[in-house]
Amino acid sequence: MKKIFLYGILATTVVFSFEACSPAHGNHPGHEYMPDMGHSVAQEANIYNGYSLNTWDKQSVKSLKELSQPRNTVAGTIPRGSVGMSATGNAADMMAMLTGAGNSVSTPINGNVPYYYGDDEAERTRATKEIVVNPFPITKKGLEEGKELFRIYCGICHGEKGGGDGYLANGPDAKYLAQPANLLLDTFVNGNNGRLYHAIMYGKNVMGSYADKLSYEERWKVIHYIRACQADSKKLIYNDKQNTFKPNFGIPDSIYKATLAGKTGVQKPAAAPAVATAKPVTTSKPAPKGK
Ligand code: HEC
Repeated sequence: MKKIFLYGILATTVVFSFEACSPAHGNHPGHEYMPDMGHSVAQEANIYNGYSLNTWDKQSVKSLKELSQPRNTVAGTIPRGSVGMSATGNAADMMAMLTGAGNSVSTPINGNVPYYYGDDEAERTRATKEIVVNPFPITKKGLEEGKELFRIYCGICHGEKGGGDGYLANGPDAKYLAQPANLLLDTFVNGNNGRLYHAIMYGKNVMGSYADKLSYEERWKVIHYIRACQADSKKLIYNDKQNTFKPNFGIPDSIYKATLAGKTGVQKPAAAPAVATAKPVTTSKPAPKGK
């Protein structure tokens, strides 16, 4: 009798242990012994529903459900990459964001900088209208690098100095059928920087995009170089010391530094008017007046 009882218990245990670990098959989800050992309780961040079994924070002031929800960013947070557009249109503000000057947060210049314009003619016009100032001051080094980059990426078509006479389209063995734009034409000279930036981002007709070849900073260096070539063709000056060409388009480094000097922060909108009104540092004879 005792034996039968023992066998009974043993048989039941065996049956149960098999049943407890029965593997999944077909429509049968299977059984698991202590499922939370196999599947750890995960806390999913930034979702709106807290998992009901996550109860370890009972003593906490906030419930886990609250903790797992997305929260607003800390006041003053600059989203990564948001330096592309300065709300004030003020180059000094923009530089501050890029370099972390004053008490602003530095943003990696070669990070992803969004471009809020589409790839069509209406958007080209809008970019031309809205994007005026080059966010980087004109520096000697920047101009040299811009020249080198232009030579590598643009010069083959647009010519070393932007005259539209690159060897790919105009050389003795020229095979390129389209005529690259002459960037020294008045339409480009007078157009705001957005026209050039847009062309780099999307190209135009047979010209492809150079957005993946040039970083955010490099694009603006190339634009500085194009402006310097244009200024040259007009016998005007566009360099790190003075800009008699188009004061709205680029801030010479010396003026930029003078504007920032003595300031702890650069939030005040002083820099933009200062650029427009600042007397260029004249190094030699007075330069001809810009248009
Ligand atoms: C393979 C040849 C080629 C290269 C390289 C090239 N372009 Fe172009 N680009 C063209 C052609 C062709 C046009 C004229 C497109 C049209 O108007 O149909 C043009 C037009 C332009 C325009 C005028 C756009 C407008 O608004 O009308 C700009 C600005 C420009 N290119 C800048 C650049 C810059 C900056 C680079 C270098 C990063 C570059 N291009 C590289 C062929 C080229």
